Amino acid sequence: MADLRVEMLGLHFRNPVIPSAGPNVRDGLRLQEAAEGGAGGLLAKTISVDPAPVPMPHMATVRGGFLNTELWSELPPERWLSREYDLAKRAADSLGIPLIVSLGYSGTEIAQLAPKVCPWADAIELSTHYLGEDPRPMIEAIDAAKSAVDVPIFVKMSPLGREMKAAAQAAAEAGADGISATNSFGPAFGVDVETGYPLMGGKGYGWLSGPALQPLSLRCVYDIAQTVDLPIIGVGGINNGKDAIAFIMAGATLVGVCTAAIMRGPSVYGKIAAEIDTWLNDHGYENVNQIRGAALPAQEAYHG
Ligand SMILES: Cc1cc2nc3c(=O)[nH]c(=O)nc-3n(C[C@H](O)[C@H](O)[C@H](O)COP(=O)(O)O)c2cc1C
Repeated sequence: MADLRVEMLGLHFRNPVIPSAGPNVRDGLRLQEAAEGGAGGLLAKTISVDPAPVPMPHMATVRGGFLNTELWSELPPERWLSREYDLAKRAADSLGIPLIVSLGYSGTEIAQLAPKVCPWADAIELSTHYLGEDPRPMIEAIDAAKSAVDVPIFVKMSPLGREMKAAAQAAAEAGADGISATNSFGPAFGVDVETGYPLMGGKGYGWLSGPALQPLSLRCVYDIAQTVDLPIIGVGGINNGKDAIAFIMAGATLVGVCTAAIMRGPSVYGKIAAEIDTWLNDHGYENVNQIRGAALPAQEAYHG
């Protein structure tokens, strides 16, 4: 067996496969299931200061991918603070793995939420999905988090819009400790041709995830890894061990899985980790760290 353990910013993950924020980690029970399903660490659904409205329908499969118009958690933050984080933290502690808490969105909102999640958060991921092109709201969100807490702060990038290298540079300069890439891609659109209605409720727009997103997210990770010396959580269309390995070779330290967990259930994290293990064994590697960054330029050591 290869050694899949990963150390990142002083946190110890039993393998590099963690959940990415979504309905797969929408409450404490789902986080418990993710731990039981073999996740290397836990990451909870994004919360904000108010519960999110839920447009209906808000998820659909499309060819090669998945559309969603789900926002942050529809549970009020008080519910996470009184119950869900306790359940998740207990599951994480029983395995000695970290819990990452995801917060959205503006600096003002982060300043309110970050101090409250301290008892449970080994790290915080800031979702910047709805903040648009201008890097200043992202910088304000990082500032607010860094002033409020001492744990590592990850900032999660959208795959479109802000040029990835410039965004990564701005995040690093603002003091982010790591970068997650990417969120879902959009707005996208689908039509139910039987009814003539948009596939998604609300304004009809959806955000694309799953396999169709993978090359785009992978490029973002590749760009970020060449721009800043920060750990990266690679996310986007990861469905098996080889997908995960591609992200690690592009520079990711951990990989996040959302759509595959929605489609295949919480055992998917452990299955992907087992496939990484098999691949490493078959290719003569002793640990997962040996392949990190192999696809980056100037990796003579790896390619001989
Ligand atoms: C239904 C759904 C809900 C999501 N909710 C969140 C969220 O609350 N916060 C967030 O940062 N990303 C959210 N995402 C984005 C995922 O965490 C992930 O970044 C994206 O879907 C790409 O990964 P995947 O292809 O493995 O799903 C959501 C994705 C889906 C499909």
